[in-house]
Amino acid sequence: MTAIITIANQKGGVGKTTTAINLAAALANREKKTLLIDLDPQANTTIAFYDAGEISSSMFEVLSDSRVGIATVIKPTKDPLLFLCPGRLALAKLEQQLAGQFDAPFRLKDALSPVEKDYDYVIVDTPPSLGILTVNSLVAATHLLVPIQAAYFAIEGTDDLLETYERIRARPNPGLKVLGVVITLYDKRTNISKDTHGQIRSVFGEVLFKTKITKNVRLEESPAYKETIFTFAPKSPGAVEYKKLAGEVIQRVEEDRVASHAEDAA
Ligand SMILES: Nc1ncnc2c1ncn2[C@@H]1O[C@H](COP(=O)(O)OP(=O)(O)OP(=O)(O)O)[C@@H](O)[C@H]1O
Ligand SMILES: [Mg+2]
Repeated sequence: MTAIITIANQKGGVGKTTTAINLAAALANREKKTLLIDLDPQANTTIAFYDAGEISSSMFEVLSDSRVGIATVIKPTKDPLLFLCPGRLALAKLEQQLAGQFDAPFRLKDALSPVEKDYDYVIVDTPPSLGILTVNSLVAATHLLVPIQAAYFAIEGTDDLLETYERIRARPNPGLKVLGVVITLYDKRTNISKDTHGQIRSVFGEVLFKTKITKNVRLEESPAYKETIFTFAPKSPGAVEYKKLAGEVIQRVEEDRVASHAEDAA
């Protein structure tokens, strides 16, 4: 079964895109065939692999027109096990375009169903909002991964995200689970980081991943060179940490599979 992990937090600039790109690349490095989907109109994930001019069709076409198969927009990357479904600015139009369509929240789920079995992991990057794009990602996903920046007020707003998560679990996607919360942009020299780490740990407990992503300039630079952290700075803390995070992700997904099998058998 394919793990479909949506990376979401409606707060902007918390490391969703950096996590989506480098977690996907780390999974590919661990021999997992991975599809990275960019659902953000800002298209920061896409631009980390291709120039905007190289993108002729994107997730916008797939989600706005059910006749456009997702397979037609999948692009290869330099990593043979990592593939990309590009996003572009037009995605911003979907909020209005899909309004009132009864199947609006199911567009991504339906689009993915013919290809998902070809991948071990699907990673979805979402915009900083809880609109129709994020809702589509939560309806299609098996798991939710929430990056939280180690900064004051970091937890503010996660209530809304978790409420949306519960609503989606209640109806369209009861199988959805929280895979984990990852602390990003951590700076061990500051008290702010230490305080917020403690706060996040007390709120999320076991759900929190052991791996923290520290603040590291290499992670900020690599997209400009169209590289992931693993080719740009393979020995940097960012590379080491995202590799560790991928290990934890794989472990949780596999434990979850064992648990669901046991439930099915019971
Ligand atoms: N661990 C890190 N160390 C240093 N810089 C980072 C780190 N993680 C992210 N950044 C930088 O912080 C900025 C915001 O990160 P990113 O784009 O991943 O956040 P986001 O949650 O996807 O933002 P948005 O909500 O706008 O989509 C970017 O410039 C990124 O390069
Ligand atoms: Mg982003």
